[in-house]
Amino acid sequence: MIETPLTLPNGLELKNRVAKAAMTENIADPIDGDPNQRHFRLYERWSHGGAGLLITGNVMIDRRFLEQAGNVVLDARSNFDAFHEFAQHAKSGGAKVIMQVSHPGRQSSLFITRKPVAPSAGNAVKMIASFAKPRALDANEIEALIRAYGAMAARAEKAGFDGVQIHSAHGYLGSQFLSPLTNLRTDQWGGSLENRARFLLESIRAVRRETSPSFAVSVKLNSSDFQRGGFTHEESIEVARLLDAEGVDLLEISGGNYESPALLVGVDDDRAESTKSREAYFFKYAEGIRQAFKRPLMLTGGLRSASVMNEVLESGAIDVIGLARPLAVDPDFPAKLIAGDRSIVSPVKPVRFINKQVSAMAEAGYHGAQLERMADGKEPDAGLSPLRATTHYLGAQMAGFVRLMRRPALPKQLVAET
Ligand SMILES: Cc1cc2nc3c(=O)[nH]c(=O)nc-3n(C[C@H](O)[C@H](O)[C@H](O)COP(=O)(O)O)c2cc1C
Repeated sequence: MIETPLTLPNGLELKNRVAKAAMTENIADPIDGDPNQRHFRLYERWSHGGAGLLITGNVMIDRRFLEQAGNVVLDARSNFDAFHEFAQHAKSGGAKVIMQVSHPGRQSSLFITRKPVAPSAGNAVKMIASFAKPRALDANEIEALIRAYGAMAARAEKAGFDGVQIHSAHGYLGSQFLSPLTNLRTDQWGGSLENRARFLLESIRAVRRETSPSFAVSVKLNSSDFQRGGFTHEESIEVARLLDAEGVDLLEISGGNYESPALLVGVDDDRAESTKSREAYFFKYAEGIRQAFKRPLMLTGGLRSASVMNEVLESGAIDVIGLARPLAVDPDFPAKLIAGDRSIVSPVKPVRFINKQVSAMAEAGYHGAQLERMADGKEPDAGLSPLRATTHYLGAQMAGFVRLMRRPALPKQLVAET
């Protein structure tokens, strides 16, 4: 099953059912945000590891608002040739490559901006005092951002990427529009679910307008925010129905955000009856979404064993298996899965410190450090001390923030350039 090819509705042929899920690489130079040799090495490694699809780490749509100092940014100022080279390396081993496009909204830290933007002004992200209170985007900014999604996708297609994935999960801007906790608007962008989903739907339409019909459009969506008052599972099913009608080629299901990090630590209420629902954090939610979304569905979060991956595929609810951390510790894991031994299990071990939020940070630190090793041409090191890896990662982030301070001042309305 894992080894069975799949053709997405836009015609993109995936040689098997394994996709590398997005992992922020944080290795671009904060001054220019262009992909570099380290990205090329990392993606070439993954491309030869056997996955049918590679989804890049989040690429920023507006360089004023980053998720990390070392994010890749694609806009009018970018070095186009570097993106072309990036796509070539990512495809060199036969994988297809989709660029994840994102804007962090209120989840852009104090070290990057003192004034993040969000659908509505409101509370800062509750996380070790490292975020500022956001201001509300005005209607012109929202429309400029939607146009920027189209412009960015056109650049990605020209550079050789096979598609884009609009990040609308994990509490980033797309996800903030969907959540009644962060979207308190009373205009056409807020209120009813239809209005809250408008930003996502209009972004998809902008991408479609600016790219050819053979260019894949994917969305990453929360199955729920797992937060009281947030985007619910029932709402997620309704949005999936809208995405089906919109003709999305691949819908990836995840869950949670910085404040409720289910994406990395799983879901509390899963006192799981079966190994399948224990291992695959969002499987039972994806089963609900399948009723509304009939096109290819990808499930990401917690999947580790070939047996559960095959079970999930054989259930008919899921078409593509998304793997992030397993490919940080073993880039050849897809090839091993595809070889057909159903007893294979990823060696990924949970990294747990203090509470869920610190654990999520440590997960990102430990696995981010593995990406850096591969970007430097080394093998991942399962023996890395999680504490040391996290400390190193936080240190590298700080160095990125310091470098970011040297970036020349940016115009106030950067998205208007695109
Ligand atoms: C180091 C790291 C970076 C991540 N960066 C992103 C990202 O840029 N975009 C995204 O949608 N998810 C990101 N994630 C979440 C993963 O895509 C995935 O949803 C999550 O890790 C659960 O899958 P897994 O259990 O296979 O790791 C990241 C995860 C890790 C560990």
